[in-house]
Amino acid sequence: MTPFHHPWGELCLQRWPRRRNETLQAWDNADLYLLNTLAERGQALGNGDNAPKTLVLNDQQGALCLALQQAAASALDIESSGDSYTAAAAARANAVDNGLDPDLLFCWPLDAPKQSPDQVIMRVPKSIALLQWQLQWLSGHLPKGVPIWLAGMDKHLPRQLVPLMQRYLGNGRAEYGWKKARLFSAQAPGRVLADTDYPCRVDALQWRLTVHAGVFAQQQLDIGARFFLDHLPEALHTGAKVADLGCGNGVIGMAALKANPAARVTFCDESWLALESARDNVSRYFPDAESHFHLGDGLAGLEQRFDCILLNPPFHDGHVVGDHVARRLFNQAAAALVPGGELRVIGNRHLGYHKVLARRFTSVTVLASNAKFVVWRCQGPTPSASNLLD
Ligand SMILES: C[S@@+](CC[C@H](N)C(=O)[O-])C[C@H]1O[C@@H](n2cnc3c(N)ncnc32)[C@H](O)[C@@H]1O
Repeated sequence: MTPFHHPWGELCLQRWPRRRNETLQAWDNADLYLLNTLAERGQALGNGDNAPKTLVLNDQQGALCLALQQAAASALDIESSGDSYTAAAAARANAVDNGLDPDLLFCWPLDAPKQSPDQVIMRVPKSIALLQWQLQWLSGHLPKGVPIWLAGMDKHLPRQLVPLMQRYLGNGRAEYGWKKARLFSAQAPGRVLADTDYPCRVDALQWRLTVHAGVFAQQQLDIGARFFLDHLPEALHTGAKVADLGCGNGVIGMAALKANPAARVTFCDESWLALESARDNVSRYFPDAESHFHLGDGLAGLEQRFDCILLNPPFHDGHVVGDHVARRLFNQAAAALVPGGELRVIGNRHLGYHKVLARRFTSVTVLASNAKFVVWRCQGPTPSASNLLD
């Protein structure tokens, strides 16, 4: 693990959940460039009453908010917010490891910062929709003139970033680049200048779904989800417990509810805005259903066991593409099924999930396939399933 040397000290940062043989670093040059710039311009945290209150947005693993905590007279001067549960959990775990305060003030996402910030520093989110929504939020909630700093790695920055800043903040410019990272600066306009299109409305089955900014399949139903909808379990027993794992807008769990109105569905996602979308949609179309909503890393933290787990797995973790999250969710599913229960999962044909699933389940059956996707039924977790590396 490479220590993160920043202007006010040093942090040992790890990604979360912790993995054996992790190869990915938990901070990057965009974090460092942003902190160096604040330090150079004297805009770090001062002392006592004059310490600027800082709102940190979209911190990835805690590099920004924990470095500022090391600089600050009081951890209370920093609030950190973002849409990702796993990013917040990473920051908390890293705070503990570095002897810092894990009870950073996480506000999900931007609902109610406890204090009006004097400055905002943010990582540019992967989703342009989320970026727009956050910029608009800042325009409507910050007093005029509050400095806003954005940072990202060149390869991840959207080309329309400055025009979007101009649109929502009325100003904004690119600063110099440094080691493949870039900074942008703006000032809060003190009022909302432009509307966003979020939440979006997406038609699926007979529903018009609410999809909040940045949630998967923003404009239309995902083609994988569409195929999966044709191959969901139809006759579950009364009161069957179902999990919609990685629920996004909730469409898969809602289809299970439509076919099995007496099922009890738990909608799970690590994105707060995804879970809010699912909550909105379920309460509109299934107000009487017994549904639960779980914000977390998959099924972690749930005591409950399930008769059926439905999964259209993610194929990336932020900017990192790979199947490590899917494998973790498969492991969790194997551990969370009742005897005789099933995981029903859809995957892109080229990802080769069959082998990965066969190490975790004694029975893996192809239920349907087309040129792009395969739907599997997985039963009988293998005894070693819970010990497999994620
Ligand atoms: C491919 S999308 C599927 C969304 C929806 N089920 C559908 O079919 O349209 C995967 C979802 O998994 C969620 N996700 C990613 N990592 C997760 C994790 N560690 N725990 C729970 N959900 C996660 C993403 O936020 C996203 O909503």
